[in-house]
Amino acid sequence: MLSKNNIENQIFVIFGSNGDLSRRKLLPAIFQLHLNKLLPEKFVVIGAGSQEKDEYTNRQDVKAALLEYTHRDYKQEDLDGFLEKVFYKKVHNQTDSDFQGLKDYIDKISSDLQIPQNIIYYFSIPPFLYETVANSLVHYKLNEEENGWKRIIVEKPFGYNLNTAIALDQKLHTGFHEDQIYRIDHYLGKETVQNILVTRFYNGFFEPIWNRKYVDRVEITAAEKIGVGDRGGYYDSSGAMRDMVQNHLLQVLAVVAMEPPAIFDADSIRNETVKVLQAMRPIAEQDVHKQVIRGQYVATEVEGAMRKGYREEKDVDSKSKTETYVALKTYIDNWRWGDVPFYIRTGKHLPARITEVVIHLKHAPHQLFKQLCLTHPNNMIILRIHPDAGIAIDFGMKIPGAGYKVQNVNMAFKYADLTDTKIPEAYERLILDAMAGDATLYARADAVRASWKFVDPILNAWENNPDIPVYFYECNGWGPVEANDLFDEDYNAWREPEE
Ligand code: BG6
Repeated sequence: MLSKNNIENQIFVIFGSNGDLSRRKLLPAIFQLHLNKLLPEKFVVIGAGSQEKDEYTNRQDVKAALLEYTHRDYKQEDLDGFLEKVFYKKVHNQTDSDFQGLKDYIDKISSDLQIPQNIIYYFSIPPFLYETVANSLVHYKLNEEENGWKRIIVEKPFGYNLNTAIALDQKLHTGFHEDQIYRIDHYLGKETVQNILVTRFYNGFFEPIWNRKYVDRVEITAAEKIGVGDRGGYYDSSGAMRDMVQNHLLQVLAVVAMEPPAIFDADSIRNETVKVLQAMRPIAEQDVHKQVIRGQYVATEVEGAMRKGYREEKDVDSKSKTETYVALKTYIDNWRWGDVPFYIRTGKHLPARITEVVIHLKHAPHQLFKQLCLTHPNNMIILRIHPDAGIAIDFGMKIPGAGYKVQNVNMAFKYADLTDTKIPEAYERLILDAMAGDATLYARADAVRASWKFVDPILNAWENNPDIPVYFYECNGWGPVEANDLFDEDYNAWREPEE
């Protein structure tokens, strides 16, 4: 049966339900859907975690997570109503027989509450367990679709490199077909990333200049103020390249650079984004030191307080070469973008938390006011993803008064001005889409492979050539100065985003 918003009654199982992601993001997102009346009439969330606990204790735990991580007002009855939909079953991910228990539990809930066995399994677990859990689901026939559809949502990182991503896909495909596998990349769930599609393909005036004829270069920045915190164990074997670039930032790049699809559906859009990733010019191992800069933050005093260096973080190797900062220059070898450099950078412990895409346009062909410009005569379109989501256009204007002095000014639109309601969190949107069976904003296997194909030679170069430097940078600065050497023209450098 379909609810008002065409979502079938269903069961949502979270593996790793006591973990950080589940508490901070997943449960609060599902609760938001409940508050917004977007959940189907018959719906339950089953937490599947390794802890032994009863339903009451689990509901108390879920309640505590919701109180901490829900940032809007709601009535007590809404919370109580939601908690009635929350269930728990102890499942140790590596104990195959626990899955028989899970099956029995699902059968019981489904029959007691008359919910069909349309089931989403969310893998909110360490990646090395994906295969194990998928195998157990298959072993106990929890993947079979006779009595309802089954979907799995798999968190990033999907694989550790190209080969392991391919191997993981093969394993998952033995029990699930591609339409059942949802590879989540929360950046694609961000409203503002989706709005790039509307900006480009709804308006007639951006598209004609969105190409090599008018665009000089594109910059994509994801800066974070925080360090790795208590995630050192995971991060030290991942690094910024695997944590942010291979997935989030290459997906953003694909949306910025894709061709317009003929129709607006999941496959057409994903067909276009994958072409961009496949067209990325590979960086040969011997060129990595010139085209990719890696950095690591060091202990720094900021506003009177000492911030730890990366190597002092918990669970991080004291000689670690893992990068907490990456800046790179790449090209997309196709007709639209031939020879336009795309610059990507991301880092921890930078001065601001800002994610943005900057389209730098070429100069006017003949500069009448060159000597009179107070800044470089460069128009920009800035797509701000976070914070203050919106779009700004930078262009030159005459400074009032005698003569023709020119200064860059800014015309900005803030996305929040469009609505009084809170912009939904990425996870809310993505979970709702998976419930409805819409995979448009999930990464397809070929896209994941294409992005690993681009990233792999860089990771190999770093591993095989210890001489490629890891540049140290101080916290609260914009990363290693060497990152500016990626620009060909002396006057170009990374834009310093304004908060
Ligand atoms: C996660 C990374 O996927 O994205 C984190 O693992 C990073 O290291 C986070 O902090 C950034 O996401 P957002 O939405 O805060 O930009």
